[in-house]
Amino acid sequence: MKILSLSLLLLLAVSVSHGRPSISEPRLIELLTSTNLIETEADLLEKQRLSINYPDCRSWHLGVETSNIIDFKTVPANCKDYVEDYLITSQQYRHDSKTVCKEAYFYAKGLALKNDTVNVWIFDLDETLLSNVPFYANYGYGTQKHPPETFKTWLELGQAPKLPETLHLYHNLLDIGIEPVLLTERYEELAEVTLKNLKAAGFTYWKHVLFKPNGSNAKIANFKSQERKKLVKSGYTIIGNIGDQWADLAKGNAGRRTFKLPNPIYYKT
Ligand SMILES: *[C@@H]1O[C@H](CO)[C@@H](O)[C@H](O)[C@H]1NC(C)=O
Ligand SMILES: *[C@@H]1O[C@H](CO)[C@@H](O)[C@H](O)[C@H]1NC(C)=O
Repeated sequence: MKILSLSLLLLLAVSVSHGRPSISEPRLIELLTSTNLIETEADLLEKQRLSINYPDCRSWHLGVETSNIIDFKTVPANCKDYVEDYLITSQQYRHDSKTVCKEAYFYAKGLALKNDTVNVWIFDLDETLLSNVPFYANYGYGTQKHPPETFKTWLELGQAPKLPETLHLYHNLLDIGIEPVLLTERYEELAEVTLKNLKAAGFTYWKHVLFKPNGSNAKIANFKSQERKKLVKSGYTIIGNIGDQWADLAKGNAGRRTFKLPNPIYYKT
């Protein structure tokens, strides 16, 4: 027995010492330090990333909503039908949005609101109050890139439809004395057409609408947290915050609770 285990140990030692030289560590380092190769590697990786197929689009979507899949440039091409079905045909988008808005309302309704402060609720705008799905429908529901100027042209039409579930929440919160603050990454230059669009969609009252300064390239989360900080400093209490992007709900003064609406079409930082 003793001899057997000793020889086993020897065998193990032999195979370990034999194993070492076969590990291709030097080659790996070589690969990583050669700029030429890195470029080709990076190109290859980028190509692979763009052509990644997610055979299960529901899993892909869950990954997006939970912020496990981030920074995707376009929806995987094979998920076009899934996204169309989610947004339009099955109405699952409406059902999911309703669930989020209901939870938000139940939470707010259960609070004993103080009257020595202004109780506000932060609403994001695009894909929260108004929908750009008609625009993205022209680009394969996010599976195709759109020319940069076309989105602005769409916004300038001022014809984005309302998201009915959020409109419902908006009215319910007003009824219990919570003031809406609209906080958007749209530039101030779009203020006029945006306010017109909002009113036509049924959002007719707000405590403030806060736009991004013209030409600012601040990240959404930074811009929005700065604006929320100003609100808190002026004595407001942010009861809640709702948006379709994690960047709407991240960083300082996010609100006592945050609510994430679904969005399978794009991801913003
Ligand atoms: C605010 O609430 C306190 C305590 O509930 C109450 O005594 C007071 O009258 C209220 N003030 C106003 C302006 O409603
Ligand atoms: C932003 O741009 C719009 C339209 O060009 C202009 O009317 C507005 O005054 C600008 N705002 C600021 C703060 O410069």
